[in-house]
Amino acid sequence: MSFPHLRMRRLRRTPKLREMVREVRIDVNDLIYPLFVEETAHHRVPVGAMPGIFRLPIEGVKEEAKSIAALGIPAVILFGIPARKDEFGSSAYDDNGVVQGAIGAIRESTPEDFVIITDVCLCEYTSHGHCGVVKNGKLLNDPTLEILEKVAVSHARAGADVVAPSGMIDGQVGAIRKALDGAGFEDIVIMSYSAKHASCMYGPFREAAGATPQFGDRKSYQMDYSNPNEALREVSLDVQEGADMVIVKPALAYLDVIFRVKSKFDLPVGAFNVSGEYSMVKAAAEKGWIDEDRAVLEILTGIKRAGADMIITYFAKDVPTILKKQ
Ligand code: PBG
Ligand code: ZN
Repeated sequence: MSFPHLRMRRLRRTPKLREMVREVRIDVNDLIYPLFVEETAHHRVPVGAMPGIFRLPIEGVKEEAKSIAALGIPAVILFGIPARKDEFGSSAYDDNGVVQGAIGAIRESTPEDFVIITDVCLCEYTSHGHCGVVKNGKLLNDPTLEILEKVAVSHARAGADVVAPSGMIDGQVGAIRKALDGAGFEDIVIMSYSAKHASCMYGPFREAAGATPQFGDRKSYQMDYSNPNEALREVSLDVQEGADMVIVKPALAYLDVIFRVKSKFDLPVGAFNVSGEYSMVKAAAEKGWIDEDRAVLEILTGIKRAGADMIITYFAKDVPTILKKQ
């Protein structure tokens, strides 16, 4: 059948009809909200490059997580800003550390099954701001693994449901799986940032988390964004090492990678709609150049349409209101 018998516009005639035939829908259950927790903060501190985002004191995450859960958002991912940093990032595996404390605080204020994910990386905890142990200006792979194992086990001990290694260190998923199992945490989920690219889009996050490298860049561990086949190899290795879920990051310039990962692997795929992607929308909306709510819905739908099952996004708290307005 073709025109004039077939008319595609028939199904677009009214809002209800369009709603009926919609193929991809954003749902609040798809979303994960990032939280920044600062050990030395006494009140919430606004992040300059991310309007609407704050670094919270440990006590402050209680109320915040409670309202996130009340919105129906199923999960948060935690980033810690510690009181002290050293060469090896040792405060990252302190059982009394900032993320560990925040997990306890969130557990007190949220329903039992609220999902707590922790970012497992060292860049917020090292004096040099790199994601692992550095010697003579180079990031050492295998010594970093030993520290990441301790961090993951410490987060699990504090009550995390999911650990998310984000450093792109070779072998980190296998090492963490073994360490968790060895410590009796065989039920803790690993959500690996498998295809994390060296991107300029993390700029605002580095201000928020105080995690800017003091020298050089992250190109010897984060991926070159020109290599989608390599992204598939990274995912494949993480799956072999025991990842339960994988993340592609950033999201918007990487929709092809999300699509290819989802097409090739049958495990849940997350997309990280990163800080720079958030700030670009905020900045354009502040200038009155785009409609923020419509931009957010269009962007999140695009990420889901590409194949993401979950989206980590700083817009998560706005979504219930945006959906109601549709
Ligand atoms: C830490 C980490 C980063 C992000 C998440 N975990 C920063 C980086 O790798 O430089 C970026 C998140 C964002 O930009 O929203 N390794
Ligand atoms: Zn890092």
